[in-house]
Amino acid sequence: MQLTPLQQKRVDELLAKMTLEEKIGQMNQLSPSLVGGFDVSFEELIEMAMDGKISQEELHQKFENAERDYQEDNIRAGLIGCVMLQDPGKYNELQKIAVEESRLGIPLIIGFDVIHGYRSVYPIALAEAGAFDPDLFRRTAHMAAKESRTQGISWHFAPMIDVGRDSRWGRVSEGPGEDPYLASRFAEAKIHGLQDGAYEDAKDGTERRENYVAACMKHYVAYGAAESGRDYNTTSMSISQLHNVYLPPFKAATEAGAASAMASFNDLNGVPCTVNEYTLRRTLKERYGLKGFVVSDANAIRECIDHGIAADRYDAARQAANAGMDMDMGTSIYIEELKNAVERGDVSMEVIDEAARRILSVKMWLDLFDHPYITEEAMHRYDKLPQEHVALTLEAAKKSIVLLKNDEKVLPLKKDQKISLVGSLAASPSEIIGAWAMSWKGEDCVSILDGFKNAGADVKYFACGGPDREINDDEIAQAASFGDVIVAVVGETTAMSGEAASRADTTLPGKQRELLEKLLATGKPVVTILMNGRALALGWEAENLPTLIEGWQLGIQMGNAIASVVFGDYNPTGKLAASFPYVTGQLPIYYNHTSTGRPAGKFKFTSKYIDAPTEPAFPFGYGLSYTTYQYSDLTVEESVEAFTAKVKVKNAGNVAGTETVQLYMQDVTASLVRPVKELKGFTKVALAPGEEKEVALTLKKADMGFYNNDGEYVREDGKFRLFMGGSSAETLMQELDVRF
Ligand code: NOJ
Repeated sequence: MQLTPLQQKRVDELLAKMTLEEKIGQMNQLSPSLVGGFDVSFEELIEMAMDGKISQEELHQKFENAERDYQEDNIRAGLIGCVMLQDPGKYNELQKIAVEESRLGIPLIIGFDVIHGYRSVYPIALAEAGAFDPDLFRRTAHMAAKESRTQGISWHFAPMIDVGRDSRWGRVSEGPGEDPYLASRFAEAKIHGLQDGAYEDAKDGTERRENYVAACMKHYVAYGAAESGRDYNTTSMSISQLHNVYLPPFKAATEAGAASAMASFNDLNGVPCTVNEYTLRRTLKERYGLKGFVVSDANAIRECIDHGIAADRYDAARQAANAGMDMDMGTSIYIEELKNAVERGDVSMEVIDEAARRILSVKMWLDLFDHPYITEEAMHRYDKLPQEHVALTLEAAKKSIVLLKNDEKVLPLKKDQKISLVGSLAASPSEIIGAWAMSWKGEDCVSILDGFKNAGADVKYFACGGPDREINDDEIAQAASFGDVIVAVVGETTAMSGEAASRADTTLPGKQRELLEKLLATGKPVVTILMNGRALALGWEAENLPTLIEGWQLGIQMGNAIASVVFGDYNPTGKLAASFPYVTGQLPIYYNHTSTGRPAGKFKFTSKYIDAPTEPAFPFGYGLSYTTYQYSDLTVEESVEAFTAKVKVKNAGNVAGTETVQLYMQDVTASLVRPVKELKGFTKVALAPGEEKEVALTLKKADMGFYNNDGEYVREDGKFRLFMGGSSAETLMQELDVRF
């Protein structure tokens, strides 16, 4: 986010005219409360949705139609700087009050949860990260920015860039997986996609301001380490762990220009991130140089009382503002308490000025002062989805699919085979969406069943069971008698991942394993497609299912994308962004764990379980293709600034394919225990059948260090290993003696 000198000047001039109340007003975000219009109570409605008595689509409709309180008088009085909203008509109405009826005419900024697409929903982040494709990450974010801005939404509560290593935590679905390097590349690409439209004219004739939004990286920080994978829970870790694992994506996003950040709900080493001066002011603002502002998560300032860190609302406001929390989401604590706190000398005027300046700067950069309204034309621009958007959601969906097993080469299927499509998820047009998408339309959604039909397959659907259904033996018998092959779609419903959806047991929910057993017992070949929002515990599946596809929740084009892989029109290229355990008890599990003094081995007294493997069922970076790739001849060249690792990759099969070549490093001897492997680079290589190419990846010496427990970045001479391969588990290795 870069303001012009003129924009800076306008912010300064405005700030000079503002009263204390008006400045605090900018620091207040309204989330319109639902005040009525439901036929049942709000709580009952949520319960009905959880019990599956109403569909996600119906719930969505009811929310749309509910009556809300927008506090128009407070907007008029300049006491609200931001509203969370997705309603273009209402947007113009509220903006008019702010711009034409408030004393200084400061426009509202409208924020909304646009996590993996707006109208064009693309794969959940955990899936998309597995495409290992920063250019794709950027393009999908840009599409979401364009779509949402036509509705008045100019601030996305995204990207979610929490490193997640414990898939009990439901929010792993929203983020880019377990690895800090991949998460950092994801983070910066998303920032560029959301924000860089500010710096160049659009090629499609739209106004420049319609091509970007302000990003809000979240959840800052270490939320992914919530103890026991339980949402909102405590986190506790060393400073080195914080800087080496959880902070890097936020550093990368800030360096890419992120306009804002949202603090996380958790406490970190005893201090809630909402009032954490070390993470907010000293690290994010002073060390990384965030130019925009920090917002709390919903109600989190008030929750500091429940954390037992603030005595009351006044104390919570004081602590948050002083720690560097610029905007309060969802409570009215700042407007109620901060004036008093300034007058009593508990919060300085500089703190308030800084917060107001940061918020006004983002509004100025968004061009909201000169163009506060949205036009009728813009509002309806995407009433019908443009072909390019559909194509991009399809591309992203295909690239996110991971082929886990194809032992008997049953895949790809032939279109003249009779297919019995089984599992309630297969026919659902809404479960393909995944958590945290609220602006999609049913008419755009392609279920797996629809995708198979679109592909011209001879397919018949038999529910037979599902994540929240009983098994139907009659339907299983019918499926067995119709199909030459059974394609079973199993997994989780959307409600089983995302916020407040932690699971203590991460195996396939309900009776789906039993369903798969029964399907295998029919003797027909069974292809299993997973549709889920977390890395599941797949021990039984890994051992018993010969053919397995990780299909995640891929967004509106899921059905077409899955069909293109199943029928071989697209050769899978996706890799896992998170390790899949055999059993839940292995969690947290991640490839880049540190070395123990007793690495797991045959000997009893080593670091392992007596009842489960140590390694994952499917590791980070893993993913098959319809061809195979052979790696050979790893060499490493040193220059003054870097090491360049080169490896030969050969397509040893008879179909063309694209492989993701990964570079890992190990700092073998260091002053702190270091990971056994750390991802340091990746690239894609397209190979025709039989073709071999040399692939080079460069590792800068500057990137070979680590953070110590004083939070300092250090590089230490000594033995290193570089690895290249097609997954974190299968690599060639070269040892180096490094002097920096
Ligand atoms: C709570 C969630 O933690 C956060 O991710 C989201 O952006 C806000 N609520 C606003 O909906």
